[in-house]
Amino acid sequence: MVDVDAFVEEKLDEIAGGIGEEHAVIALSGGVDSSTAAALAYEAVGDQLTPVYVDTGLMRKGETEQIRETFAYMDSLRIVDARDRFLDALDGVVDPEKKRHAIGEQFIREFETVARDVGAEYLVQGTIYPDRIESEGTIKSHHNVGGLPEVVDFEGIVEPMRDLYKDEVREVARDLELGGIISERMPFPGPGLAVRIIGEVTEEKLAVAREANHVVEVELEEYDPWQAFAAIIGKATGVKGDNRVHGWVVAVRSVESRDGMTARAQEIDWETLQRIQSRITGENETVARVLYDVTHKPPATIEYE
Ligand code: XMP
Repeated sequence: MVDVDAFVEEKLDEIAGGIGEEHAVIALSGGVDSSTAAALAYEAVGDQLTPVYVDTGLMRKGETEQIRETFAYMDSLRIVDARDRFLDALDGVVDPEKKRHAIGEQFIREFETVARDVGAEYLVQGTIYPDRIESEGTIKSHHNVGGLPEVVDFEGIVEPMRDLYKDEVREVARDLELGGIISERMPFPGPGLAVRIIGEVTEEKLAVAREANHVVEVELEEYDPWQAFAAIIGKATGVKGDNRVHGWVVAVRSVESRDGMTARAQEIDWETLQRIQSRITGENETVARVLYDVTHKPPATIEYE
């Protein structure tokens, strides 16, 4: 992108002109895309925009608190605690596409409630260029594209960043002074930790996944990965204290990428991998094993489901 200031000015006018005197909503996920779109739109129309953060319980450690703090300046911010409802919706669901679907449906229900409540005519979305490309193909059902517009009868959809790549969005986020935590944050999938848990999502697995993801993010920060995370991929035998246990197997993945369409597994030094292993197995009683994923994309995807 050549001139970020010019881009921001142009988009502020475009958003204000598009929304006019009406009301708009945006789903905030805590990721850089929706955060940047929300900040842009809020700057353009102020409290005519209601940013909605749905706490699905599938978020990263500390994410809800982070959102509350970062967006405290937006008087219209709504935080919906839907953790129990998401767990209910995921109860017994094992198939990856069905999981994505259940999450997408529940998300729409939560969001729709607020959109109707505030009488929103417009939907602002943080869709970026690679999202549109992946959704056009059949790679996976992408929960931040499609879905929402069909359910609530919006007069219009505003997607200020639809032609940007991720690195360009980060430039805009920096320009808007969103703070390093948001602008430099690794991408995080819409369905959250659910796609980092193979099989059924339970409260117990979520707690392990959340802590393990946090350890990996912190320990691998110096490698400046596109994404670094942990996934629960099954169970295996291990020894904890004097007992043989059947515990969780946690896979650690760290990749370099420009846009998520292709990715390279990063080479991590042994000492760092051992530190991650020892923290994850040490801090989580139920984890028996930690593996490092060396597969590029393709043939693997970045996430596990
Ligand atoms: P995959 O796993 O397909 O992921 O290689 C490519 C990039 O997309 C992210 N991802 C998602 N982002 N909603 C999102 O907003 C989703 O449903 C979703 N699924 C995957 C993934 O984290 C990676 O950066």
